[in-house]
Amino acid sequence: MSQMNDPDYVREQYASEDNLETRRSVWQPTAEGLDPVNEALNAIDRALVGDADVLEVGCGTGAMAERINALPGVTLVATDFSERFVELTAARGVDARQADICYLPFDDASFDVVYAGWMLYHVRDLDRALNEVRRVLRPGGTFVAVTNGNDHIADLLRAAGGKPAITQFSSETGEFVLGRRFGDVRRHDLETRAVFGDHAAAQAYLDSFDEGLVLPPFEGEREYAGHVTVFEAR
Ligand SMILES: C[S@@+](CC[C@H](N)C(=O)[O-])C[C@H]1O[C@@H](n2cnc3c(N)ncnc32)[C@H](O)[C@@H]1O
Repeated sequence: MSQMNDPDYVREQYASEDNLETRRSVWQPTAEGLDPVNEALNAIDRALVGDADVLEVGCGTGAMAERINALPGVTLVATDFSERFVELTAARGVDARQADICYLPFDDASFDVVYAGWMLYHVRDLDRALNEVRRVLRPGGTFVAVTNGNDHIADLLRAAGGKPAITQFSSETGEFVLGRRFGDVRRHDLETRAVFGDHAAAQAYLDSFDEGLVLPPFEGEREYAGHVTVFEAR
């Protein structure tokens, strides 16, 4: 998906919650019952020492922000550049602000933990974004980032005439990219599953990317493999 970090595409893609909700609804945990969102929350929780300032970048509809906000001792600020997502996140009782990760409106060393879930592959200038994360983190602070691998739903994309989504921040590149700014980078790889009740559900998932992909008809339920990595960097 070449348009993954095209600012016009990204802005349009997240002007409302429809695309994100369509995609989120199909994901099932790994065979061991592990959910990447829970694993990311555990990583954030592990990084907290007493009272802590936490920043979420690219918070989407605020589902994770609400869970981070409920962790004991946390003061959270959630940011996204979509006005609609800031509104939805604020409605969950979270301090939500509109901001681009490349221009964070915070002082140096303001946060103990920064969380970025499935958003660094959308950023136009990844170096600048990561410099901003490093700048606002306190020394010894932790950055938790979640992303997909190159083979994430690759069989589904191929079946619909598309290509696997090779992005700038993936399971394959994340360790190297983060290693340039953080001394200690850990990873947790998770094999998830997208389950579609019928052909229409799978086609709706593809339509949410607005790439014109068409999946040949099939009967019954289908499952496609996903690949997600939770990175912890400090
Ligand atoms: C795939 S969604 C993930 C949302 C949420 N983290 C989740 O896991 O559901 C990507 C999010 O990143 C936001 N985003 C993309 N580029 C951004 C940028 N440069 N600065 C801030 N937010 C951005 C989008 O508006 C969208 O909410």
